[in-house]
Amino acid sequence: MEIDIQNILRKNIRNLTPYRSARDDYNEGLLLDANENSLGSPVRNPLNLHRYPSPTQDILRKKIAHWRNVDYENIFLGVGSDEPIDLLIRMFCEPGKDSIMITPPTYGMYRVAANINDVKVKEVPLTSSFQLQADKIEEAAGADTKILFLCSPNNPTANDLKRVDMLKLINSFPGIVVIDEAYIDFSRQESTAELVQQYSNLVVLQTFSKSFGLAGIRLGIAIASPEVIQVMLKVKAPYNVNKLTADTALKAFDQMTLIKFNIEKIIEERNYVAEQLSYAESVEHVYPSNANFLLFKIKDALTVYQKLAQEGIIVRYRGNEPNCENCLRVTIGLPDENRHFLRTLKKILS
Ligand SMILES: Cc1ncc(COP(=O)(O)O)c(C=O)c1O
Repeated sequence: MEIDIQNILRKNIRNLTPYRSARDDYNEGLLLDANENSLGSPVRNPLNLHRYPSPTQDILRKKIAHWRNVDYENIFLGVGSDEPIDLLIRMFCEPGKDSIMITPPTYGMYRVAANINDVKVKEVPLTSSFQLQADKIEEAAGADTKILFLCSPNNPTANDLKRVDMLKLINSFPGIVVIDEAYIDFSRQESTAELVQQYSNLVVLQTFSKSFGLAGIRLGIAIASPEVIQVMLKVKAPYNVNKLTADTALKAFDQMTLIKFNIEKIIEERNYVAEQLSYAESVEHVYPSNANFLLFKIKDALTVYQKLAQEGIIVRYRGNEPNCENCLRVTIGLPDENRHFLRTLKKILS
């Protein structure tokens, strides 16, 4: 389905005259245009921290575009991927009128961001094997359903959604389809990022928080058609990505060998923890994982969760989510931490 992006934008966003920041006009010269502090930062740093950062972060966007095999016009950078989630809802959904669609169990921020913006949430749950019900999603979507949020690999279930189902929905959904790929680098499934060249309604979210090990710098990526990216740039806060973040992210690209090594190490540990968990009698199921965490079903999950916490080990109780009764989610830690977790769990269960 060919979607007219301008047509599904909120009217006030379509007509918005964006803020023009000082750095949009000039980057060099005697810069007396932005009310910065000319005496400089009190903290020594070669990045000229007394000056505002680039509003568009083009150097970093080009680096990321090259890495993901898209054009830099396809890249938006945000304060984590939580920023583009909120921004997309604000761009496309009229408060009090429009809705988003989610497929529970899934990442909680889609609903929270919708609630903050007074946008309704429609739900079409995943099947018991945590796959999409594409036909039901198509049936439930209406003219007011502006965004469909899919998450692959999905949090908290850890599995990839089937690519064929996602493709079907990109083609049939009458609005924006977001595919959140926060965990994609831990999966063997191909990213859908390159498909943004073909589909103007597709937005792929990625993040530096997981495979890059940089949750602390708060850098998220939205990959989409230049038309959607242009609107996102127009709506975001002028200097959303700061200099320290951009500089650290650029340096990370010099460490790709280490990043890839760490991904493989986490996958290896994940497979080990999954195997060990599956030997425990109380563990009813360990769900296959393509992420850096595991979901498992265990007898009396809430009690186990509390007992682990008493031992200083914090996991996530997910038993209230659909099809996740008695489920816990555990992040893969360092090898020693994983063994400590497994030993403690064994002790609690004995
Ligand atoms: C599926 C998913 N998307 C997005 C995020 C948020 O990532 P970021 O740190 O980039 O805001 C998370 C964080 O846990 C996540 O699980």
